Amino acid sequence: MKEIDWGTLGFHYTEPDYIVRAGFHNGAWEEPYATKDKFLHLHVSATCLQYGQEAFEGLKAFRGVDGKIRIFRWRENAKRMAKSAEGLYMAPVPEELFGKAIRLALKKNMDFVPPYGTGATLYFRPLLIGTTPRLGVGPGQDFEFIVIPSPIGPYYPGKFHCTTFIVNRHVDRAAPLGTGQFKVGGNYASSFRATEPAHAQGMDCLFLDAKRHKYIDECSAANFIGIKGNEYLTPRSTAILPSITNDSLMTLARERGMKVTRRHIRLEELADMSEAAACGTACVISPIDKVIDPEKNRVYHLSDEPGPVLTELYHALKDIQYGRADDRHGWCTIIED
Ligand SMILES: Cc1ncc(COP(=O)(O)O)c(C=O)c1O
Repeated sequence: MKEIDWGTLGFHYTEPDYIVRAGFHNGAWEEPYATKDKFLHLHVSATCLQYGQEAFEGLKAFRGVDGKIRIFRWRENAKRMAKSAEGLYMAPVPEELFGKAIRLALKKNMDFVPPYGTGATLYFRPLLIGTTPRLGVGPGQDFEFIVIPSPIGPYYPGKFHCTTFIVNRHVDRAAPLGTGQFKVGGNYASSFRATEPAHAQGMDCLFLDAKRHKYIDECSAANFIGIKGNEYLTPRSTAILPSITNDSLMTLARERGMKVTRRHIRLEELADMSEAAACGTACVISPIDKVIDPEKNRVYHLSDEPGPVLTELYHALKDIQYGRADDRHGWCTIIED
């Protein structure tokens, strides 16, 4: 076991022993292999550098209460990455290759799996880049798939708490028929000019739909959830990333007898919600205490403390990830040490 202070890691990169790589050349994928070298020998005209031909993913492995390691829903990440690849004219990484690479990255970095009880996890960042040198605008034919593991600290090192969001109508995260439903680097670089000013004010950014600025789209790099009575509401939009956490939480909400609705949600509907949150792999659920709309001079107050419905769903999902509850949906892949 590494000498790491797991509790204070935060969401920062910690250098693992190995990364895993596999290249795609002449129409075929090579077998994934582990390497200690964290640098790429990349052509300066590679399509990832010139035209942003790249996609990535994010998923976690958890050390459970029983000492076993669980990788959460990796097949869903593999499917989503294949969609991102198609969206950017890249060769999709076959699901089995994706799984093999994740397992190899885990096996080669066992010392970086944080112990149970620390709240820390082993995060995997799968990355797919275009490596063909090109000057003329167009996609390449060569790709590199890389899995970068890194232990990360607990999202809530203290207590489970709320975050304030601020509405931004000056920056759109993604166009309705753009790349918002894909996890591609360009979506993130282009949203920094909204998220960074929000962070500087100790808040996070709420994106509205790009066409009318009327409906809630996404919470920074996370999906939006609202609770209205016994209803779990989440936006229907072609511009948002299909969150695997949101999908899991919807299943858990239905199991608890809640009505789950995916539809356009007007910003003003926040006034009728008892609870709201951002959700994603990093936080599971990040409850929202209030949403500030500076242009309309309006503040939507939700709950100062995480509300009962979202708190229950948060613990229910974490209990499955840590092996404390029955994995009835087969979401966890167990890896023996
Ligand atoms: C833009 C965006 N939305 C939503 C999510 C949440 O997705 P997931 O629950 O699969 O992590 C993420 C994180 O991957 C994201 O980057």
